[in-house]
Amino acid sequence: MTRISLIAVCALLLAACVLEEPDVGPPLREACVNADSDPGTDVSYTRDILSIFEAMPGSCLGCHAPNAPTPLGFEISGLDLSTYQTLRSGGQNSGTDIVIAGQPCDSYLVLKVTDGVPFGARMPLSGAPLDDIKIQLIRDWIAEGALDN
Ligand code: HEC
Repeated sequence: MTRISLIAVCALLLAACVLEEPDVGPPLREACVNADSDPGTDVSYTRDILSIFEAMPGSCLGCHAPNAPTPLGFEISGLDLSTYQTLRSGGQNSGTDIVIAGQPCDSYLVLKVTDGVPFGARMPLSGAPLDDIKIQLIRDWIAEGALDN
C-alpha cells in the first residue's frame, strides 16, 4: 500500500469514528428545568425552605450553623444555613452562586443535594438524600426569585 492510500484509509477510519452516533442508552435522569413546576403555589422561605434545613434526622442545621452542637459543615465550608441572609452569602466554594434567583439548575444549593454535586459530597453529609418533593420545593423557591418570604 502506498503512503497516500494508507493515509486515506486512516482518515476514513477516523471519520467513521467521529461521525458515527455513539451507542448510548436513554439519559439516566431528566434534564433540569429552571421553570417553576407549580406556578399557582408560592413557596415560602420560612415555612418551606427553612423547615427543610431544620428537619430531622440528618438536619442541615445540625452541621451548618455556628451554634450547632457539631458545626462541621459551618466550620469546613463556612456555610451558615440558619438565616436567609447567611444562606444567600453562601459558603467558600459556592459564594453567592449558592442561590441564583430564577436559575435553580445552576444554584449550588440544588446541585449539592442532587446527583449533580459539583464538589465534595452530596448533602446531607450523614443522612438520607432529600426526597423529590423537598428538592422540588427548593427548585421552585429559587425559580420564584428566592424571596425572603
Ligand atoms: C453531618 C454534617 C452535615 C450535614 C448534616 C449537612 N452538611 Fe452540608 N456540608 C458539610 C461539610 C463537612 C461540607 C464541606 C464539604 C463538602 O462540600 O462536601 C458541607 C458543604 C455544603 C455545601 C457547600 C458549601 C460551600 O460553598 O462550600 C452546601 C451547599 C451544603 N453543605 C448544603 C447542605 C444542606 C442543604 C444540607 C441539608 C440537606 C447539609 N448541607 C447537611 C456537612 C454537613
